[in-house]
Amino acid sequence: MASGGKGLLAGSFLRAAALGLVVLASAAPVARSWSKEGHMMTCQIAQGLLEPDAAHAVRNLLPEDVGGDLSALCVWPDQVRHWYKYRWTGPLHFIDTPDKACTFDYSRDCHGPDGAKDMCVAGAIANFTSQLLHYKHGSADRKYNLTEALLFLSHFMGDVHQPMHVGFTSDQGGNSIDLRWFRHKSNLHHVWDREIIQTALAEFYDKDMGTFRKQLEHNLTKGTWSDDVSSWGDCEDLLSCPTKYATESINLACKWAYSGVHGGETLSNDYFDSRLPIVSRRIAQGGVRLAMFLNRIFSQHNRDVAAPS
Ligand SMILES: *[C@@H]1O[C@H](CO)[C@@H](O)[C@H](O)[C@H]1NC(C)=O
Ligand SMILES: *[C@@H]1O[C@H](CO)[C@@H](O)[C@H](O)[C@H]1NC(C)=O
Ligand SMILES: *[C@@H]1O[C@H](CO)[C@@H](O)[C@H](O)[C@H]1NC(C)=O
Repeated sequence: MASGGKGLLAGSFLRAAALGLVVLASAAPVARSWSKEGHMMTCQIAQGLLEPDAAHAVRNLLPEDVGGDLSALCVWPDQVRHWYKYRWTGPLHFIDTPDKACTFDYSRDCHGPDGAKDMCVAGAIANFTSQLLHYKHGSADRKYNLTEALLFLSHFMGDVHQPMHVGFTSDQGGNSIDLRWFRHKSNLHHVWDREIIQTALAEFYDKDMGTFRKQLEHNLTKGTWSDDVSSWGDCEDLLSCPTKYATESINLACKWAYSGVHGGETLSNDYFDSRLPIVSRRIAQGGVRLAMFLNRIFSQHNRDVAAPS
């Protein structure tokens, strides 16, 4: 039994919560993750770029109650990470790298707190990608729950693009750098997880995530990034590309997140204005790359190879 509900909740409500359909008002604030909006926009951008085979597979794997909307469950891994059954997934949301090194080295850095190999966000993306590649083997006899694999892959593709999810070890990716965001207390990790996104939503988009997302999509297809986008999807080997994304993140973390910031200070307009374009680009990149992964995982070729129909 999941520990999250503590018997205060009726069974059906708990089940809905398990599927991420209900956000518990009492849930502890989540540390170390793109805000709900960051994850949802990444997943919506990705779903809009799916080719028919992948769109079909995603629809098949999602529980019926979400009506085919991947983004409705993209925050699910954050909702369950403190439950007993899913506690092992905690380390999969981030990577701790050596202080000030500003590099990511998979064999040095991708491990859990107890040293368990591959237990980091880059390892998790590879893990759930290889599980999903077995989707072609048909529905019977599955070793893994591929619905969960899809939700984990979609979530972690977002996380690996959040620069501060690949941060320094001693400050826990900025979590222990307390400061102020405009008038309220926050920390450097949270600024990158949610404050910048929330401030942008309030300032420019009337708190409407759909408008923000459409702007991102516009910039992908016709705007500032349209020349770059095709290179974002470059990837020879799906299982090793997460290393590239994590390396980009620690580089951005050093250049834009940590640089010049001291605990105790107040970050406001200057920081917001100069960092919002970075955050926006990472959300869009996560979406484009999640689509690329899903399109390749579920390509017709894969299905033909495996499943006689
Ligand atoms: C891969 O997923 C399985 C469960 O689906 C889990 O037992 C294993 O620890 C995971 N490894 C990583 C690196 O995510
Ligand atoms: C797969 O995981 C989802 C989400 O945890 C769960 O609702 C579903 O029942 C699981 N499916 C199987 C076959 O265990
Ligand atoms: C889209 O690009 C324009 C022009 O560079 C920029 O001003 C705007 O902030 C961008 N919007 C988003 C959401 O990235």
